[in-house]
Amino acid sequence: MDKKILLKVRNLTRVFGSKKKRVVAVKNVSFDIYENEIISIVGESGSGKTTTARMMLNLLKPTEGTIEIEGEDISNFRGKKKREYWRKVQGIFQDPFASFNQFFTVRKVLDDSFKLFDVQPSKEEKDKRIRKVLEYVNMRYEEVAEKYPFELSGGQRQRIMIARIFLIEPKLLIADEPTSMIDAVLRSSILELLLSLREREKSSIVFITHDLGLAYYVSDRILIMHNGELVEQGSADDIITNPQHPYTKKLIQDVPTLHQEWAL
Ligand SMILES: Nc1ncnc2c1ncn2[C@@H]1O[C@H](COP(=O)(O)OP(=O)(O)OP(=O)(O)O)[C@@H](O)[C@H]1O
Ligand SMILES: [Mg+2]
Repeated sequence: MDKKILLKVRNLTRVFGSKKKRVVAVKNVSFDIYENEIISIVGESGSGKTTTARMMLNLLKPTEGTIEIEGEDISNFRGKKKREYWRKVQGIFQDPFASFNQFFTVRKVLDDSFKLFDVQPSKEEKDKRIRKVLEYVNMRYEEVAEKYPFELSGGQRQRIMIARIFLIEPKLLIADEPTSMIDAVLRSSILELLLSLREREKSSIVFITHDLGLAYYVSDRILIMHNGELVEQGSADDIITNPQHPYTKKLIQDVPTLHQEWAL
């Protein structure tokens, strides 16, 4: 394969707690993320998905193991280098409200993103980009720019967070259960939006989900996590048609409508 590796994760382990109450949330996990691919991390609650994501986002230090981006170890990044990393690798989480300042208007949130990530285009260029990304997410600048988070619906807030991601054009987006709180119609429109990031910006996307059916529908490759371990990884087709690990087989059995449900 001649695809370039974007992120290289090796022997990643994360332990929480003290000697008495020790939780090994992630155990010796290794995988690669290639440029311009969509990959899902699937596993039940508590299997270590979010902990893995937080380490990949450089928000949490691994107890052991390394993460490299384009050959550089991210644990050495400080200051400007760290902000640069956060521009390249961004996250979107379950509850968009949590990452949205209550007292900031939509325009301010979007405008501040430029500062936060050390990107400083001219004022005209900023306005142009903000209008463009709001268009991507089907919102009109005039309608939403001066609104506060509590004046928006959950789905609208979610779309603002996605607009913000488009604004910064990450190389890698890590989406941790981004659609679990919203209804089915909105859910598929948000998924389409996230997937379009790959076409528009040639980004890679990591989806984190409990839902193997969804993972199969959206991804090129799937990683299966169980009790902190990466028990299996492969192309989405191989995982579904030729699972090797008993836990993967069990997951597939739990999704009896796997093929019909997403065949729309
Ligand atoms: N800050 C923390 N302190 C102590 N234990 C933690 C911490 N964060 C996570 N854990 C533990 O690590 C394990 C993995 O948690 P994690 O949040 O990564 O799971 P998950 O796969 O994302 O689950 P879910 O699907 O419910 O979001 C769990 O047992 C959890 O209780
Ligand atoms: Mg989680």
